[in-house]
Amino acid sequence: MITAHDDDVTLGIREHVPVPAHADDVLVTIEYSGVNYKDALVAAARSRVRRVDSLVGGVDAAGVVATSTNVDLPVGTRVAVHGGDLGVARDGGFAGALYAPSRYVTPLPDGLSTRDAMIIGTAGVSAMASILALEDHGLDHEGEVLVTGATGGVGSLAVTLLAARGYRVTASTGSLEQSAWLSERGAARVIGRDDIADRGERVLGSPRWAGAVDCVGGATLAQVLRSLRYGAAVAASGLVASADLVTTVYPFITRGVALLGIDVVEAPAATRHRVWRALGQTATEELLEPLVDSVIGLRDLAPALERLRQGTTRGRILVDPGAG
Ligand SMILES: NC(=O)c1ccc[n+]([C@@H]2O[C@H](COP(=O)([O-])OP(=O)(O)OC[C@H]3O[C@@H](n4cnc5c(N)ncnc54)[C@H](OP(=O)(O)O)[C@@H]3O)[C@@H](O)[C@H]2O)c1
Repeated sequence: MITAHDDDVTLGIREHVPVPAHADDVLVTIEYSGVNYKDALVAAARSRVRRVDSLVGGVDAAGVVATSTNVDLPVGTRVAVHGGDLGVARDGGFAGALYAPSRYVTPLPDGLSTRDAMIIGTAGVSAMASILALEDHGLDHEGEVLVTGATGGVGSLAVTLLAARGYRVTASTGSLEQSAWLSERGAARVIGRDDIADRGERVLGSPRWAGAVDCVGGATLAQVLRSLRYGAAVAASGLVASADLVTTVYPFITRGVALLGIDVVEAPAATRHRVWRALGQTATEELLEPLVDSVIGLRDLAPALERLRQGTTRGRILVDPGAG
């Protein structure tokens, strides 16, 4: 439970009986939730992301439908829940159960468990949505695909999923001590966070990347744009470094590159189904399990959120509400 009062935020545990906001909300018994960068923003003092003073956090969860009036989501369906105001302006996934509008509830493909689904989480959905956007744009298997923030949730899932789909992945990270781990996840090459900068004296860098998945934003995204090959694209989903983007029009008008915006929070149902289908075809338990940073109970959320803020996580932190 997150409670904000003026500049103070307290995190605590309390008895929680979920309440539907609308009569047709679906009740989901939660088996796993995940800790996302956005959860850390919601739980911060003077948060610009949190929109109410008191709520159950958690922007994603996976579990089983317990009550539903939606014929497409019958009781017993294994589902992933993410999107909209969940964990931001209404109660989210850090609980034993939650009510969610059915448009944010997606049945899991056969072969993905609820644990798999939360190793994937919003981060993995964002990673796969980025990959599909690049493929729609014409990404081929020639050349290198860059992933920034590679040890994080979006980044590590992007490395794993791109490699599983046969792409040659270059992982960029500020945590070079994790190079061996990134190679095991499928990175053909690991470079430092600052190694993306190239030919700084020129308007454009060397044309290096056949495509890129970026969740970092700021100067990193600007460097990626000036180093894309002719006609290539970067899928941008995040802002861990900065929300600002200072660039020129040269990458666009002389190399015909594209900046593809990725949003999975308000993505329509058809997009969610397409992304989860692709995840079901690409992700396996064997690929996903090494991405687990740790599995925690609700009582361990505060230090986990702090680790995420400090960028010291590797992959995904899972929350098991049954673990206390
Ligand atoms: N658009 C959407 O629908 C959507 C969906 C999900 C997530 N997101 C966004 O995607 C971003 C990543 O989320 P996440 O859950 O993957 O976060 P995360 O697990 O904290 O990963 C972020 C990674 O970025 C790198 N990083 C951290 N601080 C940095 C800095 N100052 N400069 C450059 N790199 C830095 C770190 O990786 P290295 O140490 O390897 O460099 C870190 O592990 C967030 O902005 C989140 O809001 C957006």
